[in-house]
Amino acid sequence: MNKSLYASYFEANKAGWNQRTSAHIGSAFYNVENWKQPGGNSLTPVEKRELGDISGKSVLHLQCHFGQDTLSMARMGAAAVTGCDLSDHAIETARNLAAELGISNATFVCCNVYDLAEHLEGQFDLIFTSYGTIGWLPDLAPWAAVIGHFLKPGGQFYMADFHPVLWMLDDNMTHLKYPYHNADVIVTEHSSSYTDQSDHLQFTEYGWNHSVSELLNSLLKNGLKLDFFNEYPFSPYNCFANTVQGDDGFYRIKGLENIIPMMYSLQMTKPLQPSDKRP
Ligand SMILES: C[S@@+](CC[C@H](N)C(=O)[O-])C[C@H]1O[C@@H](n2cnc3c(N)ncnc32)[C@H](O)[C@@H]1O
Repeated sequence: MNKSLYASYFEANKAGWNQRTSAHIGSAFYNVENWKQPGGNSLTPVEKRELGDISGKSVLHLQCHFGQDTLSMARMGAAAVTGCDLSDHAIETARNLAAELGISNATFVCCNVYDLAEHLEGQFDLIFTSYGTIGWLPDLAPWAAVIGHFLKPGGQFYMADFHPVLWMLDDNMTHLKYPYHNADVIVTEHSSSYTDQSDHLQFTEYGWNHSVSELLNSLLKNGLKLDFFNEYPFSPYNCFANTVQGDDGFYRIKGLENIIPMMYSLQMTKPLQPSDKRP
């Protein structure tokens, strides 16, 4: 990937995520004050169930935003957590939250995920990323290489995100508008974020769609083995137009309830090398 081609897009996205962070931190959507209470955990039921026991693990969280999930994983007993994000406001907020909550085994790195090897050393038992991740990345091959680089042999990569089928719908989520295979950059003008209390924002963002096959193949090419790939007909977050909340607490698009997938999750393992195996 020629990163200089995308430099202006990344700069614009960083400025946008800095604006969003200021709005998100006080929003009901993220509910930070409530989450700060002892035991607060911002992971959704899907990740909690699928991750299982992470106690004692070293965790690298890619695109960690302001660190709420990162710090939640520290509270779940991870040995150490490291969050990475492009937004300097988000990382500053994450560091402040860690200090306020007395979570001392959390480290935060501010950089483009593509450049992480220039800013961070070591390898991790678990690499985690969730909800609103690869849509900000133009090319998944170098992203998957970052995951292969930072994962310990025998370690897991876990991801949960919105399903690319959702990005085929129009903004009001009423009808099909965009092709599934859409390689071009998508330019969006925003005057608010997906949370409440964000009406005063103004920014332009650049995103990219990625199909399920592109995602899986990028990771498989880096030698990771697929443990599971799940698709769900709901979103744990109410961040789309035209949704209805089910009895299970999850959100579905009105008129398309249980017809389209809304999110997926996957886990992959980096195989042990022969030299890593004990006789
Ligand atoms: C929707 S958040 C994902 C985190 C999580 N779902 C949450 O809500 O806390 C997307 C994050 O990706 C970050 N991001 C966007 N492009 C990035 C890049 N190229 N490298 C690293 N982080 C990036 C943004 O700064 C933002 O914090």
